[in-house]
Amino acid sequence: MRGPHNIWRLIRTGATLERTGAMGDVLDAFGAPAHLRLVARILGWPFSPLGLKGDPDVPPVVRALTALGPAYIKFGQILSTRPDVVGARLAGELSVLQDKLPPFPVEVAKAEVARDLGIDVDAAFTDFSPPIAAASIAQVHSARLVGSNRKVAIKVLRPGIEKAFRKDIDAFYLIASVIDLLAPGARRLRPMDVIRHFDGVVMGELDLRLESASAAEFAATTARDARFGVPQVHWVLSGKRVMTLDWVEGVSANDLTAIRAAGHDLPELGERVLQLFLKQALRDGYFHADMHQGNLKITASGDLIALDFGIMGRIDEYTRRVYAEIVYGFIRKDYRRVAEVHFEAGYVPADRDIDEFARALRAVGEPIFGMDASRISMGRLLAYLFEVTERFGMETRTELILLQRTMVVVEGVARSFNPHINIWDVARPVVEDYIAKNVGPRAVARDLARTGRVLARFGPRLPALVERALLEQTGTPREAPRTDWRGRIGWIAVGAVGAAVAGGLLELLVL
Ligand SMILES: Nc1ncnc2c1ncn2[C@@H]1O[C@H](COP(=O)(O)OP(=O)(O)O)[C@@H](O)[C@H]1O
Ligand SMILES: [Mg+2]
Repeated sequence: MRGPHNIWRLIRTGATLERTGAMGDVLDAFGAPAHLRLVARILGWPFSPLGLKGDPDVPPVVRALTALGPAYIKFGQILSTRPDVVGARLAGELSVLQDKLPPFPVEVAKAEVARDLGIDVDAAFTDFSPPIAAASIAQVHSARLVGSNRKVAIKVLRPGIEKAFRKDIDAFYLIASVIDLLAPGARRLRPMDVIRHFDGVVMGELDLRLESASAAEFAATTARDARFGVPQVHWVLSGKRVMTLDWVEGVSANDLTAIRAAGHDLPELGERVLQLFLKQALRDGYFHADMHQGNLKITASGDLIALDFGIMGRIDEYTRRVYAEIVYGFIRKDYRRVAEVHFEAGYVPADRDIDEFARALRAVGEPIFGMDASRISMGRLLAYLFEVTERFGMETRTELILLQRTMVVVEGVARSFNPHINIWDVARPVVEDYIAKNVGPRAVARDLARTGRVLARFGPRLPALVERALLEQTGTPREAPRTDWRGRIGWIAVGAVGAAVAGGLLELLVL
């Protein structure tokens, strides 16, 4: 959607940044080159009276984004998870952005539910409540199901939100292309990539079916975690713009007074929340990536229940193993090993000096271990680690940054329950358990078994596959080697099945 309204948005954005004093911070954060700064200042300055004023009590960038509206706020929130793009300082500032917005009326919400699900709302729900919480994208109501009388939470997207976001995102693309034009190829400045990333994340949040799917997947991966829960999705009463979940009865993790009054063991809750998070991230590679107090409830029996599945993180098995070894290396203060792991995994280019790298890693680890137990942070350790690895040529990985950011948030939650918590002592058993099960002989046995199973599945097709591969390799005419290879291919197939059996046996014995 190109057009004059985008130009107007571009001007209003620049003017607001100028008027709130945020322009300099933004240009700094993106490492904008001098001529781009000059152009931005010269163009922004005369328009500054057209900019929005915002709340002068908050830092400039937060002030500007809050004034510019929901899409900008969301943009800021997403950038807060990308210190690789905006730098650590601005990322920290942005992480306080709250997207509380005035709610829309319950009648409008009911109409949205009726339209999206194609149902008569009063025939499906009773006691449809006024809005309980309202944010930029959606709001939440409670109700009861007709028939079972079961209490549910209903999340409803704001009417017209897709169109509103679309317009702002189109303006973001225009702004990005202008920056691209003025400063092509600036290193830290990849405006188009940044907007595309934002576009992708927001489009995901604007489809509640994806959040429902996340809730269901998270419920499945954590089904056996003791004293932890995820509300069940009611798929028949959920759609693109509506999500219905079981209602979670309990106190919010925000409300320490109520948690105490209910007689819960606060230090134990602190340990549990941290261990659950680590276990889920390591074991399943699927974790809740927005685990602040507002998204956690504690039931009367003391179970921790997670809510809000808009942002989830995923880390593949290989990366999990590598990072478990890295963290384990730090725990044992074996910096040389931590360095080696990076090289073995190919994360750091082979031409870098391993001793220099190990020295830099020691500079990351030692100060943290020297800290008073109540200040130690694994999240901070990872943040420093990523700074060093970036310096040594490792590419930024968004999923790891998301993990690190969430770790900081979860540590904050744990610390709010127990200010004296020793993060290392709580984390160590989880990491050690994972290492024992996933790195070393057990892992080798399991990998072998898995490889064997895959090969065995190809069993009947193996001879043909190998023959084709060999012919492509050698380029020899079909007739000559044929008889020669037949026998050997048979042996390869036998070998594959043998590996499968051996691996399976080994797995049975070791695990
Ligand atoms: N299943 C539920 N049971 C009880 N309360 C809920 C449930 N789902 C949401 N809520 C309430 O609504 C608030 C907002 O829901 P959430 O999913 O976190 O939306 P948002 O993405 O806007 O933060 C939560 O903080 C919680 O108080
Ligand atoms: Mg929430």
